[in-house]
Amino acid sequence: MQPPADAAGREETGAGAAASGLVAVTGATGFVGQALCNALVAHHRTRALVRNRDAGSRLPPEVEAVQGSLDDEASLAPLVEDVGTVIHLAGLVSARRDDDYRRVNGAGTQRLLAAVGKAARPARVLLVSSLAARTPAASPYAASKRAGEDAAADSGLEVCVVRPPAVYGPHDRGALPIFRQLSRGLLVAPGGAEARFSLLYVDDLARLLCRVLARPVWRGEVIEPDDARPGGYGWADLAALAAPLVGRPVRCVRAPRPLVWCAALAAESIAAVRGRAPMLSRGKLGELWYPDWVCRERPVDAMAGWTPRVGFVEGASLTLDWYRRHGWL
Ligand SMILES: NC(=O)c1ccc[n+]([C@@H]2O[C@H](COP(=O)([O-])OP(=O)(O)OC[C@H]3O[C@@H](n4cnc5c(N)ncnc54)[C@H](OP(=O)(O)O)[C@@H]3O)[C@@H](O)[C@H]2O)c1
Repeated sequence: MQPPADAAGREETGAGAAASGLVAVTGATGFVGQALCNALVAHHRTRALVRNRDAGSRLPPEVEAVQGSLDDEASLAPLVEDVGTVIHLAGLVSARRDDDYRRVNGAGTQRLLAAVGKAARPARVLLVSSLAARTPAASPYAASKRAGEDAAADSGLEVCVVRPPAVYGPHDRGALPIFRQLSRGLLVAPGGAEARFSLLYVDDLARLLCRVLARPVWRGEVIEPDDARPGGYGWADLAALAAPLVGRPVRCVRAPRPLVWCAALAAESIAAVRGRAPMLSRGKLGELWYPDWVCRERPVDAMAGWTPRVGFVEGASLTLDWYRRHGWL
């Protein structure tokens, strides 16, 4: 599955002439953003949006941090000035209120695009959306990611859209509850019996974004990258594949939707008391019960020769190992 890279690894990191110039990243301090910055800095001058100075310590030292927020368009101007490409990752994957998704993933993306459009030489924009955007009616999150895509399509800027499926790997708190259950030998599947979904290991996503960067021209392509498992996964597949990794059989039981609704309500209440966004919310149920989150759009040219390297067994092994070493499991 591994594509050839030249001795300096230039092909892999998109360090071609077309990709030269400063790259600005939003969401660099998050789960995907940290993996992306680690891959980017080898070949690109990289600038990152940080909401506070402390967050900058999560970035490689080569990255230039610019303080600002998607909530404040003026703060985005210094981020995008003199930049060749903006990779827009910042967003909410969980929120305390449905409106927060619209404010950050929809309107926040619009503010970023407006700032890019006002620059002396507008950068091109690589928008990291979500497979959820394919079905905006599925949830407030899905609708907000589609709103971001629509804003990009209407912006008049040179744009490429990447819609990752569920992404997992070291540092990820989103998939931690699933890995906790797998490691205990009991997976309570929070979704429909027939639900199928694609997966992608975080370093493979980072490599894809670097590859796309090497393409000289973008024409609004939409890419849905996954780990190349035909038909994706069901919850029972995850249980079966994880069993040898956790050293015990993993039972997979279905949680009925009303029960998950109650669990979501409880999670929302606990999160509200703690002042955090809940991992599980009632708004996410439409996504969890949607039957088909399997990637389909894989335009060969736009993916610039990218192929995934890490399937679930290897990726889950790396992730479990990282969680254990960091005391998360
Ligand atoms: N993880 C997945 O499975 C997955 C799947 C498909 C698509 N995606 C997309 O990939 C992107 C990154 O996801 P992730 O899992 O890395 O999320 P994450 O770990 O929660 O990181 C989110 C990032 O966005 C930043 N951010 C949030 N609100 C912001 C605002 N108002 N202004 C500026 N920055 C803001 C955060 O900054 P702070 O560090 O300051 O909080 C953080 O850097 C998101 O757009 C998500 O929709 C993720």
